[in-house]
Amino acid sequence: MAAADDYPLEVRPGLSLELQHPDLAEAYFALLEDNLPRLAAWEPWASEPHTLATTRTFLAWQAQAFVSRTQLPFVIVLDGRPVGSCSARLDATEGTADVGYWVGAAAEGAGIAFASVAALVEHVFARGDTFRVQARTAVGNQRSRALLERLGFAFEGVQRSAQRMPGRRVDLAVYAKTAG
Ligand SMILES: CC(C)(COP(=O)(O)OP(=O)(O)OC[C@H]1O[C@@H](n2cnc3c(N)ncnc32)[C@H](O)[C@@H]1OP(=O)(O)O)[C@@H](O)C(=O)NCCC(=O)NCCS
Repeated sequence: MAAADDYPLEVRPGLSLELQHPDLAEAYFALLEDNLPRLAAWEPWASEPHTLATTRTFLAWQAQAFVSRTQLPFVIVLDGRPVGSCSARLDATEGTADVGYWVGAAAEGAGIAFASVAALVEHVFARGDTFRVQARTAVGNQRSRALLERLGFAFEGVQRSAQRMPGRRVDLAVYAKTAG
């Protein structure tokens, strides 16, 4: 069973997945502030107001979700600085997980998301209790879809009108990988 001591997960030298924790709030909020307008195109939460206090509360909630085994929530750390996020939401009843991810503009287009999400997916399967890892992304999110395809996820279809974004609804492309 995973414990906080098992982390950070080293992806490669200089790149690691660190458990989300309120201690990271200042650096994580700075990264968010630089990227919220860009993320708002694809992430519904990015259109909401963010402050240092809401970021700290969010990270505390994520840390609690790790303790209650409903999430594996990570900050992507490159050379000691947060550059993004990747997390798996766990469904112990079904033995499935849903992954989500983003990187800051400075870390985009360099294979950092690829290496980080690959490490997360490998880690989720290695724990032995998850048999399907799923990701859902807006049909129009070509970068995200390309990432999932590079990672070897299979495209399973489209869920119509599945996500609420400010002022519109979005169709989601469903991708998954299964164990074995
Ligand atoms: C979706 C997202 C995480 C994809 O990130 P990304 O940086 O494009 O993905 P990768 O890490 O696979 O990087 C791929 C690029 O790095 C290049 N690259 C360089 N070195 C690489 C390496 N060692 N391995 C893989 N790709 C590498 C690839 O050629 C590719 O270049 P391109 O962008 O010119 O095609 C990012 O665009 C993002 O955060 N978007 C905003 C939030 C979002 O959409 N989140 C998903 C919501 S479901």
